[in-house]
Amino acid sequence: MGVFVSTDDPGPAGHEQVVFCQDRQSGLKAIIGIYSTALGPALGGTRFYPYASEEAALADVLDLSRGMAYKNALAGLDLGGGKAVIWGDPDQVKSEALLRAYGRFVQSLGGRYYTACDVGTYVADMDVIARETRYVTGRSVEHGGAGDSSVLTAWGVFQGMRAAAEHVWGSPSLRGRRVGVAGLGKVGRHLTGHLVDDGAEVVATDVDPRALEWARTNHPGVALVADTAALVAADIDVYAPCALGGALNDDTVPALRARVVAGAANNQLAHSGIEKLLADRGILYAPDYVVNAGGVIQVADEIEGFNFDRAKLRATRIFDTTRQILRLADEEGVPPAVAADRLAERRMADVGRLRAIHLG
Ligand SMILES: NC(=O)c1ccc[n+]([C@@H]2O[C@H](COP(=O)([O-])OP(=O)(O)OC[C@H]3O[C@@H](n4cnc5c(N)ncnc54)[C@H](O)[C@@H]3O)[C@@H](O)[C@H]2O)c1
Repeated sequence: MGVFVSTDDPGPAGHEQVVFCQDRQSGLKAIIGIYSTALGPALGGTRFYPYASEEAALADVLDLSRGMAYKNALAGLDLGGGKAVIWGDPDQVKSEALLRAYGRFVQSLGGRYYTACDVGTYVADMDVIARETRYVTGRSVEHGGAGDSSVLTAWGVFQGMRAAAEHVWGSPSLRGRRVGVAGLGKVGRHLTGHLVDDGAEVVATDVDPRALEWARTNHPGVALVADTAALVAADIDVYAPCALGGALNDDTVPALRARVVAGAANNQLAHSGIEKLLADRGILYAPDYVVNAGGVIQVADEIEGFNFDRAKLRATRIFDTTRQILRLADEEGVPPAVAADRLAERRMADVGRLRAIHLG
């Protein structure tokens, strides 16, 4: 059973549509948030998480779907922004029936929303959801999917970092620069490879001993430090947060010695005002959602029939987008995070407006 809440006027957070989905028998409780379809169908992952309340789940999906609209707009995709949350503990309630029930709700939207993986959902889950809906990306390679999205996420972060380096030092090369990578997970490892290939000196940290072992084995030249506090205080040129959100906060920013921040983690700014603190300290922040868009570019490519080379070419353009944002920030005298939002809003308005041209 599903309850559709659709508004002619934008809702409190400016969303086009919020869909509440419930299937009692399988235990499914989900909310799909469609922030904008101005540029095309909304794309964004499904987060499966044991929220404390329905209000908390709703707040998260509204926030995340809005963020996806901005990310997809600046990634140059013909896709709008959406996101979904399934409310529950995936370890307790995830089942074939629940995922397929969810897939039917996605299908019922007729292509207004494409789903993908997020926290608590995996490639194998997308394969199950795909048995009920065409509107799913992030499937396994065997099912025509794009596979592990961290490959192009890391490539895009590297491109964004190169653009930031060019802005600060006049050359995009990272040769001889000291880059601090916080988090040697899927993205951090690929990024380390690109940096080492480019001739950068990498300093890294991770809380997981297996990640440190990976670095010792694969990149013995990488210097390892105890924790992120040590990394932030280290003599580095670039800081790449590749672990959790909130990496840039009231403690880390005053201690940071790097001139550039460019990393994969989502929601790096702990609260609004941090972007100004970074700018006041002369630290150039390449906005997270701009430089980490390689993953969504990779999964979005599935909609056309996945082609790695084409997706990589698109992810490479993150260099140009980051450069454009940094120039706009200078011209308009605002932090890059503000310039990025302005550029995304401009594309949504300018291109979205064209829908009014009648096609018969
Ligand atoms: N994978 C993608 O395609 C993708 C796309 C966009 C954004 N991101 C974001 O990038 C970040 C990294 O993603 P991932 O796929 O590599 O995740 P991951 O889980 O593979 O890696 C995260 C790594 O960070 C480490 N870590 C956790 N807490 C830490 C801490 N306090 N200090 C140091 N290390 C710590 C973990 O041990 C792990 O090795 C996440 O914030 C994710 O949301 C990922």
